Amino acid sequence: MKLGETLFTAEAIDRRVKELADLICLDYQGKDLHIITVMKGSLFFTTDLIRAMDRRITMGCLIASSYREKTVSEGNVELLTQGMGAVGNRHVLVVDDIVDTGFTLAKIREVLLSYDPASLKFCVFLDKEAMREVPFDVDYVGFTIPPEWVVGYGLDCAEQYRELTSIRVVDPKAEDNESQ
Ligand code: IMP
Ligand code: MG
Repeated sequence: MKLGETLFTAEAIDRRVKELADLICLDYQGKDLHIITVMKGSLFFTTDLIRAMDRRITMGCLIASSYREKTVSEGNVELLTQGMGAVGNRHVLVVDDIVDTGFTLAKIREVLLSYDPASLKFCVFLDKEAMREVPFDVDYVGFTIPPEWVVGYGLDCAEQYRELTSIRVVDPKAEDNESQ
């Protein structure tokens, strides 16, 4: 796998995360907030976002898998909900790394709505708007990006590159260049 262009540096990410945190704090003033992070990709984003919020929260996690080591969507989403915490009658904000086809968030919305939350909103770090296959409006978006595979800041390509502090483009077909 070969790393390409840097789309967002660690500094740019940091600035945008703080802006999102301020927006969210404003919108949830006077309300309890339960944040559900979608593992594993949104781990870094969620912890940065929460630490940039000057407020109390509760949190839980969901594990979603649809890609299974591939970079092509199967539209077939598996969800593990044991760790998400109580959702009924609460203000819930789901935080994910990226929305691509929209299948993952659509599935999460369907499942969480069945628990009757007081409100349900979605925050993603990246939005590949041009790739959407099911309509999905995200409430808070860090950056909109072109339809390329990206890694870093928690996002992976076949489990590689999550540790990068910036967001980089990757070419998943260039497999002969592991060392870059
Ligand atoms: P969707 O169901 O097609 O919207 O895809 C959502 C999930 O696919 C995300 O939560 C990511 O885990 C993964 N994904 C989609 N595009 C990328 C990418 O460019 N890099 C890394 N993961 C991605
Ligand atoms: Mg994900």
